[in-house]
Amino acid sequence: MAKDLRIVAFISGRGSNLQSLIKNCPSAKFEAVVTDTPEAPGLAFARSHGIHCQEFDRKKYASLKDFRAAIREYAKGLTPDLIVLAGYMRILEPEFIHLFAGRVINIHPSLLPKYPGLETHARALAARETVHGCTVHVVDNGMDTGPIIAQASVPVGAEDTEASLSKKVLTQEHLLYPWVVNNIIDEHIRLFPHLEISEAAMKSAKDFGFVVAKEDC
Ligand code: GRF
Repeated sequence: MAKDLRIVAFISGRGSNLQSLIKNCPSAKFEAVVTDTPEAPGLAFARSHGIHCQEFDRKKYASLKDFRAAIREYAKGLTPDLIVLAGYMRILEPEFIHLFAGRVINIHPSLLPKYPGLETHARALAARETVHGCTVHVVDNGMDTGPIIAQASVPVGAEDTEASLSKKVLTQEHLLYPWVVNNIIDEHIRLFPHLEISEAAMKSAKDFGFVVAKEDC
């Protein structure tokens, strides 16, 4: 992918991962932030960095189909190289995934394939996991099922609560997501036509304590 990678970010809420990407991916060109939540707190930081935020309010569309089509057409017009989902709370429809095949990535707060979906920290605690973490993966038509790019783990202690675990994992998310995006920018991680991770990226991942997917998976 080109050095000046054109990125569109999708958020629904706090936006701390988006903030970390904006701060830590200096070569990324954020074309816009798309949100389904006009009041999302994460929009303020993006706006303060001169990034356009495009709001799509479901209530203003007659049907889910129209709402999705509007988002799809808008994103298409921006011709992004990469779409980063950072706390976007909606499922993207197959037409969207097909249109941007291999160009949509997501960060998820668990060590996938464990705990797809919501409430990951509570479920990890209930299962008495001793290790938990986060995953950056390519988005496909399933719920948190696409090819795993990289993962970061944290230990779970007997004293951990949902809040403390979420904080620990989030700290790793803020390191892992920019690491992946920077490696995509530097072409050490290729997403298309299939996931490829260079030796250099594998070595760098080791230094950070991240686990990356094996080459050519
Ligand atoms: C993060 O935990 C991310 O893994 C998940 O949603 C949360 C978003 O947090 N997909 P933030 O909006 O980036 O602060």
